[in-house]
Amino acid sequence: MNPFTFQVPSNILFETGASRKVAGLAAEFGAKRVLLVTDKGVRNAGLTQGAEEALQAAGCNLVIFDDVVADPPWNVVEQAVSLCREERIDLVLSIGGGSALDTAKLVAYLARSGDRLDDVYGVGLAKGQRLPLLLVPTTAGTGSEVTPIAIVTTPTSEKKGVVSPRLLPDWAILDPELTLGLPPHVTAATGIDAMVHAIEAYTSRHKKNPMSDQLARQALALLSQNIREVCTNGQNLEARSQMLLGSMLAGMAFANAPVAAVHALAYPIGALFHVPHGLSNALVLMGVLRFNLPAAEKLYAELAPIVDPDAGNLSVQEAGRHFVDSLGAICRDCKVPESLAEVGVREADLSRLSEDAMKQTRLLVNNPREVAYADAYAIYSEALDGKSRSVAA
Ligand SMILES: NC(=O)c1ccc[n+]([C@@H]2O[C@H](COP(=O)([O-])OP(=O)(O)OC[C@H]3O[C@@H](n4cnc5c(N)ncnc54)[C@H](O)[C@@H]3O)[C@@H](O)[C@H]2O)c1
Ligand SMILES: [Fe+2]
Repeated sequence: MNPFTFQVPSNILFETGASRKVAGLAAEFGAKRVLLVTDKGVRNAGLTQGAEEALQAAGCNLVIFDDVVADPPWNVVEQAVSLCREERIDLVLSIGGGSALDTAKLVAYLARSGDRLDDVYGVGLAKGQRLPLLLVPTTAGTGSEVTPIAIVTTPTSEKKGVVSPRLLPDWAILDPELTLGLPPHVTAATGIDAMVHAIEAYTSRHKKNPMSDQLARQALALLSQNIREVCTNGQNLEARSQMLLGSMLAGMAFANAPVAAVHALAYPIGALFHVPHGLSNALVLMGVLRFNLPAAEKLYAELAPIVDPDAGNLSVQEAGRHFVDSLGAICRDCKVPESLAEVGVREADLSRLSEDAMKQTRLLVNNPREVAYADAYAIYSEALDGKSRSVAA
């Protein structure tokens, strides 16, 4: 067995209604001045109300930063850091999707450590102290509440990651009630993102290990068994709970066995065309999985019966292909858009996308098969009119 290290947050609370318990958790840190990092969509949907009321009732001074936007740009992070310093904040709480949670992780780190954002992009460069940090996800999801990662859009429209154990929160607080109102298209895209985390962790080239494998398998089971239900019946609390648990387990898996080419090719689509992260993943998913098949067939065959129990009797070759097709069927059933053209990408954009994807070396090294510029171009090209989803393997 390969030696491995494994890092997760030290505390997790998973409970319906848990977001109303943040005041008690903030009190553990003696916090008096709390910064809530969120976005307007989440706040206007009333998802922060329970936590806000609980903190105010406990006598906390609450400062609100609700200017987070999807794929948070560097300047939004810097604005929130300034506010955090001006207000002499002593604890950062975030309620929201991956965009809010990632922003909050950096705010808690940069405000306390004094480091500059530009100096900490990459792996292990954030070594200072951070403010106490509580994270409450409202999507299922990025798993950001349990990962040491924050993704920022830079001034040159690249998506760059800060990766450091310092970004793991003091508490990950999971409240499935907060995900009940997630609209079907966001439910589908964020659910696919979580499935991709599990799949890419399971096939991750260097850091795949027995713990990430178990978590990835369990995550994929929970996510694939519940994603169709939550897309059609969003009020099903039990199915929403399974999705939130699945996305957290997938987060733990890929935090320790990093994601690869699906994410590397998805990031430029998000950065240049402002396509939601999960949808960007879904649009290149089939092309990347098919490209990976020659190298990852055995691993995909191992995952196939988790997604479809009928795949148990197939040969390795058949099961590998069946796995890819099963994911195509999930995307179709959940009405995820099929083509890059539908989100505004044109043929003339494919070379810029491919160039930017090749810059995601942090992720590409984890892919089971080496990806060259021409491979990236071919995958984007196939996805342009949605051919990659319909073409049989
Ligand atoms: N840190 C990590 O480990 C990690 C992993 C994967 C992705 N990411 C990053 O996370 C970001 C994507 O996060 P996301 O997919 O969670 O989406 P998001 O945070 O960008 O939110 C998408 C939209 O959904 C809305 N929303 C969120 N929760 C809602 C709810 N419960 N009800 C109604 N509306 C709701 C938001 O207001 C927003 O408009 C990207 O920047 C991506 O790069 C980070
Ligand atoms: Fe992701």
